[in-house]
Amino acid sequence: MKIDILTLFPEMYDGFLSSSIIKRAIDKGVVEIRVIDYRDYSSDKHHKVDDTIYGGGAGMLISVVPIANCLKDIDGAKDAKKIITSPTGATFNQEKAKALAKEEHIIIVCGHYEGIDARVNNYIDEEISIGDYILTGGEVASMVVVDSVVRLLPGAITEESIVDESFNNNLLEYDQFTKPASFDGYDVPFVLTNGNHEEIRKWRHLNSLAKTYLRRPDLIDQNKLTKEEKEYLSSLQKDN
Ligand SMILES: C[S@@+](CC[C@H](N)C(=O)[O-])C[C@H]1O[C@@H](n2cnc3c(N)ncnc32)[C@H](O)[C@@H]1O
Repeated sequence: MKIDILTLFPEMYDGFLSSSIIKRAIDKGVVEIRVIDYRDYSSDKHHKVDDTIYGGGAGMLISVVPIANCLKDIDGAKDAKKIITSPTGATFNQEKAKALAKEEHIIIVCGHYEGIDARVNNYIDEEISIGDYILTGGEVASMVVVDSVVRLLPGAITEESIVDESFNNNLLEYDQFTKPASFDGYDVPFVLTNGNHEEIRKWRHLNSLAKTYLRRPDLIDQNKLTKEEKEYLSSLQKDN
């Protein structure tokens, strides 16, 4: 996969691209990531990219010109999935990350200041928000998108790590533990230490279901629950 990130602050990606799983994925050729400073595409002789807002209002808005020029200069941009980071976009989630992981080429545009001239929408395919809050710029948002997509690419991490994760099958992941089995009076549930794989599987499923029900009931589709699962969840209701 190829990813191009358009930003005014390329230095923000230094640590991100040179650490951990993302670095390994780049080194292994799983993904090629380019960070492009769209200030270089400004038509202004001083490389200015922002200006005051028509109709008035606080702050400065980024011009559509450098972004459109930059997109026109990227090889294959026509066929790439072109995304803009924006709090007004559709909220990003694991399903979206999985869909993006199937793309061959993604381009992510980062806004800054008050955002970008709305005409930028003529050059991109979709807006993505990473949540209902306002960041200073799209850089952190783009890292969230890239990080979650790259780890899903074949060869980035072991495939088993991706199978039992939160949001797969609309469930949060079950509780996990590592050594020591007992610490400060807190013990690992015995069932996880006794080597009975069927009992472990059942415990994990019920733990996952209960956790999701209590923390993120919106994820659970009641119509897809088995009779046993419904009974288990109603027993939790009684306990609470
Ligand atoms: C300060 S924000 C602009 C906010 C905009 N004036 C508004 O009220 O919707 C500057 C840039 O940060 C990025 N940004 C801020 N919050 C974001 C979020 N929740 N998700 C994705 N990008 C975000 C976008 O690229 C945006 O253009």
